[in-house]
Amino acid sequence: MATNRVAVITGGASGIGREACLKFAKEGDRVVVADFNEAGGLETVEHIKSTGGEAVFVKVDVTKQAEVEALVEKAVEVYGRIDVMFNNAGIGGAGPVLTQDMDLYHRTINVNQHGVAYGIMAAGNKMKELGIQGVIINTASVFGFLASPGTFAYHATKGAVIMMSKSAALELSPHHIRVVAVAPGAVDTPIIQGFKDKGMLDSMRAKVIGGELTQPETVANTVYLISLPDAEAINGSVVMADQGYAS
Ligand code: NAI
Repeated sequence: MATNRVAVITGGASGIGREACLKFAKEGDRVVVADFNEAGGLETVEHIKSTGGEAVFVKVDVTKQAEVEALVEKAVEVYGRIDVMFNNAGIGGAGPVLTQDMDLYHRTINVNQHGVAYGIMAAGNKMKELGIQGVIINTASVFGFLASPGTFAYHATKGAVIMMSKSAALELSPHHIRVVAVAPGAVDTPIIQGFKDKGMLDSMRAKVIGGELTQPETVANTVYLISLPDAEAINGSVVMADQGYAS
């Protein structure tokens, strides 16, 4: 189905974000690939163009509100509108609470929580201004619900993403803008491939139906489905894309 919308996707250089860029482009949307990894983001754009799709790259650090606002402006400048904002860039902020590395703590909150907040605000204001009945999708995690030791800051941010999505959905619904959180479980991307403790990967595999990590493209497919107008009942909701991840 060619939907021909404009989708802005953060974290588009890698993992779930990259696969979402490919999926939206394949379905006929114009994609703004946003990331602070320039090489990876440009590779995503090249891949889309080589398969006949349309995309541009915008370098952005989502922890900088002005850069996120400029990203949304750029999408409108290049393509004239913004229909979908996928606030997906994130980092895995590990560290136990009593010996927390405070730089990592602040970095995790800045990227995973503030980065998403800036995206909701910038896209929400622009969609409202342009009268667009858009959708804002934010990447949360099962770790927004389920606790595990050693990822104190990460849990805080993912719980925040869920509640920011619900709160923003209430305020934006009068403007016909939906806000949804998507919660993946254990996805086969660099964020968890880099775990030093390989036993942790095995324990994550054991928690999902089928015993294998979720592939990022299947999460991207879920995000695409959420974005469609037919999914209008999904608003202020958390959509689990987690293969039944159990605590
Ligand atoms: P990834 O590491 O493959 O992709 C994350 C992307 O975000 C990278 O391209 C990175 O350059 C970008 N990024 C990081 N900080 C940024 C910043 N300040 N500004 C702009 N871009 C930045 O990881 P993955 O797994 O694709 O992660 C995407 C989202 O999915 C994250 O929010 C993560 O927390 C979430 N998630 C991942 C799960 C997993 O098991 N992989 C499970 C649940 C949620």
